[in-house]
Amino acid sequence: TWNSGNVIAEQVEKIRAQVGDARVICGLSGGVDSAVAAALVHKAVGDQLVCVFVNHGLLRQDEAEQVERDYVAATGIRLVTVNVEEKFLTALAGVSDPETKRKIIGREFIRTFEEAQAALYEESKADNRPIKFLVQGTLYPDVVESGGGVTAGIKSHHNVGGLPDDIEFELVEPLRALFKDEVRAIGAELGLPAEIVGRQPFPGPGLGIRIVGEITKERLDLLRKADAIVRAELSAAGLDGEIWQCPVVLLADVRSVGVQGDGRTYGHPIVLRPVSSEDAMTADWTRLPYDLLAKISNRITNEVEGVNRVVLDVTSKPPGTIEWE
Ligand code: XMP
Repeated sequence: TWNSGNVIAEQVEKIRAQVGDARVICGLSGGVDSAVAAALVHKAVGDQLVCVFVNHGLLRQDEAEQVERDYVAATGIRLVTVNVEEKFLTALAGVSDPETKRKIIGREFIRTFEEAQAALYEESKADNRPIKFLVQGTLYPDVVESGGGVTAGIKSHHNVGGLPDDIEFELVEPLRALFKDEVRAIGAELGLPAEIVGRQPFPGPGLGIRIVGEITKERLDLLRKADAIVRAELSAAGLDGEIWQCPVVLLADVRSVGVQGDGRTYGHPIVLRPVSSEDAMTADWTRLPYDLLAKISNRITNEVEGVNRVVLDVTSKPPGTIEWE
């Protein structure tokens, strides 16, 4: 029978055999997979591992702290954070088109990560023990989707920008045989923070694709507040297990008239997009209890300045995608 303790022991052995005394690097995204993969590698080879976390400013409230503070405290991992919020905001200024946003975010992310990798690689050469391995949180469904097959004997390599052409990192993928729920169980067994282990899917481009319209610091802060309220209320209602994810979207290009306090307002709507799904390929909108919707709506309009309306997305996928952009 499946047992997280056995899997951990097995993987620790495998990682040690693969890596030996070489140095290893891992990019953390804040998500479950990379966090658990890195924790396993750290358990196996300790300080031979260094992790990189790119904070692009498109994260949700408390997410950076959960990685930089709680995750580090729980694991003892050496973490290098690259704070590039300004760089991302500058690159995204004036851009509203979803595909253009995605391209810019993807490009800046890779560039930032590769620069950090290159710097750490250079540093690691000082005592003739350069970084040789790159950890990736590839899961079994990813392996099947890309047609690799778990037993495919081909070693994948990853070319790293900013490094000499002849240098490539060999991949360490300790989660290749596992499903998401197994990864969560292993993360819990390794003592990772519940906020990270229980995290629902969150897109790489982050809140950048949950602002319909131009991305600004003010809009990100506003959306972070609304999103934190929704996440807190869904958790308090015990619905985390039932909901696949619940994007919270700011319609920054839309305004509507409202009345708040003594006067008329002209504010933005927030969209709630709670969905139930098995694999994100199809999804249905989650029938949240009306009282909970009322509470979320009241809190958002009272606590988030600039928002005077909360609307519920009742579209299945297809035809609607889960994200709005
Ligand atoms: P859609 O919107 O296509 O989303 O129904 C399906 C799932 O994928 C997530 N998603 C992304 N994840 N990078 C990611 O890592 C992306 O660019 C991206 N776009 C969408 C989305 O949150 C949902 O879980």
